Amino acid sequence: MSKNQVSQDQLKQAAAQAAIDYVLKHLEDDAFLGIGTGSTANCFIDLLAQYKGRIKGTVASSEASAQRLRDHGINVFELNTTGGVQIYIDGADELNPALELIKGGGGALTREKIIAAAADDFVCIADQSKWVEHLGQFSVPVEVIPMARSYVAREIFKLGGEAVYRQGVVTDNGNVILDVQRLHPIAAPKALEEKLNNITGVVTNGLFALRPANRVLLSTPEGVKTLKPSH
Ligand code: A5P
Repeated sequence: MSKNQVSQDQLKQAAAQAAIDYVLKHLEDDAFLGIGTGSTANCFIDLLAQYKGRIKGTVASSEASAQRLRDHGINVFELNTTGGVQIYIDGADELNPALELIKGGGGALTREKIIAAAADDFVCIADQSKWVEHLGQFSVPVEVIPMARSYVAREIFKLGGEAVYRQGVVTDNGNVILDVQRLHPIAAPKALEEKLNNITGVVTNGLFALRPANRVLLSTPEGVKTLKPSH
């Protein structure tokens, strides 16, 4: 297979392997590891299984990831008992040069944002399709208390977005998700993150700009590149 034919799955696998190498090099013996959600995070979990003896424990951003970790015999702890995590590994739906992200395509945005906030070092793993100059082609997921759904959708409309109800999805926290379209290009991600979070009934939203990634391991056919924030 030539460089042009490297599949997205192979790129995700390579990003996950780079994250394993990073964790083995940097994670301290008594520290906890945060684990994200999604197909790239799943590649990481599956690779982590062979090193479980070297990991004190993990904190998972979803019930699905927690189950996958336990299936591999990897210890999973509640964030309330670990006192934070040293490194958090997770994927993204979009990332820009400032390493601001859109996350939550898999619906786990709130727990992901909590672990990112509690992490010393947030390492995002992604294939090159996730890199964009300006965020917002991908809808911004917003987790909402169910009774506030239509009120929040109307408030989002006033901000210029169109909120689409993610039918049939209930989050691990018992809430619903609105996917906000028509925001591209998001000129000020931090401000929009704050505005969305200030709508009553919103739990949180999938913009990770106030707490961006510390580094991104971006998988390309030429290899995995380490990105640091551009400003
Ligand atoms: C889960 O809610 C998301 O934030 C994921 O991290 C994101 O959707 C990336 O998923 P993939 O690795 O499957 O692309």
